[in-house]
This record gives sequence, C-alpha cells and structure tokens, in this order.
Amino acid sequence: MLPDLRPPAPRGDAPRSVAVLGSTGSIGVQTLEVAALFPDRLRITALAAGTRWQELAEQARRVRPDHVVIADEAHLGALRDALAGTGVEVAAGTDAVRELAEEAEVDVVVAAIVGAAGLRPTLAAVEAGKTVALANKESLVVAGALVEAAAARSGAVVVPVDSEHSALFQCLVGEPAGSVERLILTASGGPFRLRPAETFDAISPEEAVAHPNWSMGAKISVDSATMMNKGLEVIEARWLFGVHADQIEVVVHPQSVVHSVVEFVDGSSKAQVGPPDMRVPIQVALAFPDRWAAPHPRLDWTRTGPLTFEPVDADRFPCLGLAYDALRAGGSAPAALNAANEVAVARFLTGDVRFTDVPRLVEVGLATARPAGTLDGLLAVDAAARRAAADARALTTA
Ligand SMILES: NC(=O)c1ccc[n+]([C@@H]2O[C@H](COP(=O)([O-])OP(=O)(O)OC[C@H]3O[C@@H](n4cnc5c(N)ncnc54)[C@H](OP(=O)(O)O)[C@@H]3O)[C@@H](O)[C@H]2O)c1
Repeated sequence: MLPDLRPPAPRGDAPRSVAVLGSTGSIGVQTLEVAALFPDRLRITALAAGTRWQELAEQARRVRPDHVVIADEAHLGALRDALAGTGVEVAAGTDAVRELAEEAEVDVVVAAIVGAAGLRPTLAAVEAGKTVALANKESLVVAGALVEAAAARSGAVVVPVDSEHSALFQCLVGEPAGSVERLILTASGGPFRLRPAETFDAISPEEAVAHPNWSMGAKISVDSATMMNKGLEVIEARWLFGVHADQIEVVVHPQSVVHSVVEFVDGSSKAQVGPPDMRVPIQVALAFPDRWAAPHPRLDWTRTGPLTFEPVDADRFPCLGLAYDALRAGGSAPAALNAANEVAVARFLTGDVRFTDVPRLVEVGLATARPAGTLDGLLAVDAAARRAAADARALTTA
C-alpha cells in the first residue's frame, strides 16, 4: 500500500490534479493553504464536504475547481445558487462524493473526511489506483485489510498525512524491507495528561476540545483527550507499515516535536522532528516523492527546551488499551471499536454522557464484533456497534 520505499526518483514539476474530500475541515482547509503556495504544481480540481455549504461555496469561488459535492443533499439548491455563473459543476449525495474520488483526471485524492463516513470514498480512490494522501485514519481502522487488498490490485499508493505516520514514513524511505524492529508513536498526552483521575467525570466538552499543541476538528480533539486517537493510530500503523501490534509502542511526548521514531533491527533509530504544524505532513504527502521549498515554521533548536518522554497512564486512558485489544482480536473488532467511539464522542460533545463514559460505551460496542470479511459485513458490524453505543445508558451519569 505504501509507495516503493527505495530512494525515489524525483517526479518533476508536472502539475498534479487534486481532489480534496472534507475540504471544509481542519485538514481540508490546511490542504488548500498548502496548495495555494504551489499554483504551478497543484491544481485543485474537486472539493467535497458534508454539510457546511457556505464554506464550501466560498472555497469554490476562490479555488475554481471543476467539481464540488456536498454530501448532505438538502443543501444542493443553496450551493448551486451560490455558485451560479462560476462554471463549477455542483452535485450532492454520498455517491457523488465517492465518484469524485474516482474521477479520471484526478491524480491525488486527499482523504480528509472525518470518521467512517470516509471509508467508501477512500476505498474508491484506492480501487481507482489514485495516489491517496490519507488523513482519514478511520478508513484503515474499519477496513484495513480491504484497503490493503484493493491497493495491491490497483497499484494505488497511500501516503500518510497523520503527522506520526508521515514521520514514520519519512524515516522508512530508503530502508530495506524487514529492517524494522519497532515503531514508536509519540503522543502529546492531550489536555488531561496531568489531570487527576478523580476529576475526569467533570471534564466538559469545551475542555476536551482544547488541545495543547494542535488545532483540529472536534472529533479528533476529543479522541486525543481520551487517547483513543493514539489507539486508532496504532491500528492505522499496523496497516500502513505491515507490522504486528507488539511492534508498535506509544510514548507520551508533551512537546510534540518528535513526531515518531523507527527503531531498526541493528539497534539504530531514526526520528522525524519539527514544529507541530499539519501543513508540513500535508505538503510531504502532496509532493512525494519530491520536496518543495516552503515557508512553514522551522524549529529553533536553542529554544525547544527539554524534550521529555514518559509512559502512557493506562488507568486514566483506557481507550488506548481497548484499541490494542481490538487490533489483536482482528476481524471486525476495530470497526466495532471505531463505530462505538464515534457515537460515544458525539454523545459526549452534546453533553449526553460524561468523559468517563466514552471507554465504557466503546466496550459495549466492541462486544458486537463478529466474523466479517466483506465491506458489507464490516458495515453491518459498524451499524450494530453504533446502535449498541447509542442505546447504552450513560454509566457514570447520576
Ligand atoms: N485535524 C488534524 O490536525 C488531523 C491530524 C491528523 C489526522 N486527522 C484526521 O483527518 C480527518 C479529518 O479531521 P479534521 O480534524 O479535519 O476533521 P473536521 O475538521 O471535523 O472536518 C471533517 C471534514 O469532513 C467533512 N465530512 C464529514 N462527513 C462527510 C461526508 N459524509 N461526506 C463528505 N464530507 C464529510 C466535513 O464537512 P462539513 O464540516 O461541511 O460537514 C469536514 O470537511 C480525521 O479522520 C482525523 O482523524 C486530522
């Protein structure tokens, strides 16, 4: 699924045609910022979003893609009116989002939809043999084996956007197969790294989305606060890099400067470092195998201060252990984990359940896992886990 990791030949300056799925989100907006730096190399030909049609229309007026799709069909008329006379082709619906990922003229698909909703378009892009700049980690969590098999059939290349996986990927380019002993994923520890366990019941959604180092969408921010994000990343790493659960370790690194580390069989390690700025891994994915000069912030090595590393507190952050359990169980367990987590996070964000209910609802959802190898089978488990997590009573709420 990864590109050939031998030292790559430069690809040159031929413009790349890019479809951004999830363009109104945190990753989507930053992708458009990166693309604006390289008007001769990147041409944004398609944009897709879920519901925020005004933001999508504003992006389309600025970027002038050929196609724009809004997943929520209720906004088709308003979006069409907003883009009347621009020449931009407007469509709506989840099938139309998927079709964008397969468009013949698209070279690179940026998969930046949040959650399992990104699975079908990501899989379509992989099946169509595109280069996929993958932010939507949930698609690998839900259906990593299917995405891997589709990439093997089509020759699609998946370049990670997640900063940790981009770091691992950059460390692995040029290294021989079979040389990896361990992958060490760094984690900031989130906003509650130092918060006492007995106060976790009182954590509010506002506190949970306020990440200390990264500005991200609400769902991934809560995932970072529970450390489920790191669990999803462990599963993502398993599929991207073809390693076992036992070869993936997580270490808390509050400064978010070391983005991850590859330890090799000879005892040598490589880390990738830089300021926490998602535009860098986004650009790495869009430019691969080239590197393009850009004015992103640099590290001032005289001012980084101490870089520290510590183990994860498994008692306060049980979601990480649940993700390892799901990865080791295999089959549909990661899909059930992910679906239940999406519901649990949504319930937490609306104030329906407490922060400490999230891992409990995930456990309820995990229990719905059953043998499933096909996409339909996995999506049936996803639906069952969602129902279970939605129906379960909050356990810590009085
Ligand atoms: N943010 C980060 O720094 C970061 C870092 C690493 C990885 N990631 C991963 O990147 C993905 C996106 O994260 P984010 O933080 O950018 O999320 P976000 O800010 O919540 O944005 C999500 C995007 O997905 C769109 N969307 C939702 N459902 C859709 C559907 N059915 N069809 C089409 N578009 C849909 C949303 O559109 P509307 O808003 O218009 O509804 C929005 O554009 C996640 O998988 C996350 O784990 C994010």
